[in-house]
Amino acid sequence: MIQTIETLEKIIETGTADLSEIIELLESRDDEQQLLYSAAREITQNIHGNVIFLRGLIEFSNCCCNNCLYCGIRAGAPGIQRYRMSADEIVATALKIKASHCGTVVLQGGVDPDFSTAKLAEIIKQIKAETSLAVTLSVGTKTEEELLVLRQAGADRFLLRFETSDQAIFSKIHPFESFEQRVACIRNLRPCGLQAGSGFMIGVPGSDIKTIASDILFTKNLELDMIGCGPFIPSPGTPLAQESLLSDLSVYYKTLALIRIMNPYAHIPATTAFDSLCDGGRDEVMKCGANVFMPNFTPPHYKKEYNLYPGKPQVDTSIDIYEAVKERIEKMGRTVSSAIGDAIQPDAYGKNEYEHNNC
Ligand code: 5AD
Repeated sequence: MIQTIETLEKIIETGTADLSEIIELLESRDDEQQLLYSAAREITQNIHGNVIFLRGLIEFSNCCCNNCLYCGIRAGAPGIQRYRMSADEIVATALKIKASHCGTVVLQGGVDPDFSTAKLAEIIKQIKAETSLAVTLSVGTKTEEELLVLRQAGADRFLLRFETSDQAIFSKIHPFESFEQRVACIRNLRPCGLQAGSGFMIGVPGSDIKTIASDILFTKNLELDMIGCGPFIPSPGTPLAQESLLSDLSVYYKTLALIRIMNPYAHIPATTAFDSLCDGGRDEVMKCGANVFMPNFTPPHYKKEYNLYPGKPQVDTSIDIYEAVKERIEKMGRTVSSAIGDAIQPDAYGKNEYEHNNC
């Protein structure tokens, strides 16, 4: 017990840890576990205040040519009504996001060749011309040249999870993709002028506590502006449908808390998959390190076809999305912010390159 508290204090002080120290904290229980959560909460409050940034999500296409074993919209998934939103629909939804007090629009889609880089660039330009929103992309792996085009068009941020740091597992669950290429894309983000986001699925099949600890270390090593992690949820109709969640659900939350403690300045969303874990899962994550919430503005008739995993909060068209989210967050004693919520640049990191680089 005393030993684990000392380890926690060391991690808080230095912001780093070795594999065995992370495992020690991931295995902590009772009082030590609570101390881990409260340390993460305190760091979040000290650096990010009481505020939760809102990023409005648009899932603009569920067409995907990738076949990731875990994903409900993989190319081989049966019985899916595939859709693509038109550019006009996307821009109209971005305007709704702006009117709903969000500072950022997140454009997320499958790896869909129909949305070429040139087409995405046009959509970004239109959103930028009509709103003051920050634009975040989550559109799969891109080359450096493509990233530069997207940045030039006005994209501010880019999210690409590495999913797992275990290369053997990565290759198994991503039949068409290379780990090196994904990581190269993530490392290219900042030099291309984009705020960089990545993260992993906690408890991907084949992983154990040591894998999760390595994932946490790998995340730290990437020096990210945004870190999005969520539990792996078995998705029906996928090859991993029969796999299970971790037997100890607290490991998911302890992972988030450790990520916060080791990356105090990063923006960390309470990802939707936490609500699939249990009712109010995202609230729990906001109590142990998350400072971002991503309300989903995908038009309801499309949203019901964007099922990466089951248990996604269902569409209630009678409810005002902003009011519902505001109420949820204020119930926890936090306030929502409509600010853009750009990356924070602490002295310790020096100036981020995107401040100087108008590529
Ligand atoms: N469980 C949890 N997360 C998933 N994602 C896709 N499928 C699943 C699943 N079954 C996540 C991946 C991807 C992000 C867009 O959604 O991490 O990067």
